[in-house]
Amino acid sequence: MKFDIVTIFPRMVAAGLAEGVVSRGIDQGLVDVAVHDLRDYTADRHRSVDDVPYGGGPGMVMKPEPLARAVDDIRARRGAPDAVILLSPQGRRFTQAEAARLSRLEHVVLLCGRYEGVDDRVRTAVATDELSIGDYVLSGGELAALVVVDAVSRLVPGVVGDAQSVEEESFSRGLLDYPHYTRPPEFAGQRVPAVLLSGHHEEVRRWRKKTALRRTLERRPELLTSAALDDEERAMLEEIRKEQEREP
Ligand code: ADE
Repeated sequence: MKFDIVTIFPRMVAAGLAEGVVSRGIDQGLVDVAVHDLRDYTADRHRSVDDVPYGGGPGMVMKPEPLARAVDDIRARRGAPDAVILLSPQGRRFTQAEAARLSRLEHVVLLCGRYEGVDDRVRTAVATDELSIGDYVLSGGELAALVVVDAVSRLVPGVVGDAQSVEEESFSRGLLDYPHYTRPPEFAGQRVPAVLLSGHHEEVRRWRKKTALRRTLERRPELLTSAALDDEERAMLEEIRKEQEREP
């Protein structure tokens, strides 16, 4: 899986790639990330990446040409990308399903916007997708690009050592995760649920599934409408609803 990230803050992006799961994936040759300084694609003495907005108003707008030149250069030197993604709060929401879709591609370019905005012709003429990581405004797309690289890389086979942990975790099946515990058996006056100490694998499995469903129902009920539940899960959900009717 190959990523190219175009930014005016290459050191900020490099720092975010230097440790953890993505860094290990890079060391293992499973993920290839190249970071490009947008100023290397400017044409003037001041290496300008922004200009005043047509129509007036506050702030500056990122110019289209440096971003377009950067993508042309990436295409020439690193091959044609499968997607060119502009990170912006106006984009489609980046979700686990979107991460899974991107993890099946071979080459993704990420364009980080800055300032008040990016000339809209970057979206229409250079990018293939526009993604937002959430309903809040960051000061630039750099952190968003790192979020995308992290979430996508860990779905690339081999990057996360234990493939089962990726499959079972929160959101991979559209549900929240079950709670986790380790030693000691009692902490802050709270005991680890007895079933987890019982050694009954089948009961542990059922407890985890049901607890994940209960959490999802209580905290994020809207996720249940799109989750693909199996027969056991539908039955458990019915049990939980009945339990809640008994003691709301
Ligand atoms: N740039 C600024 N805010 C952003 C967001 N929420 N998602 C993606 N890119 C951004």
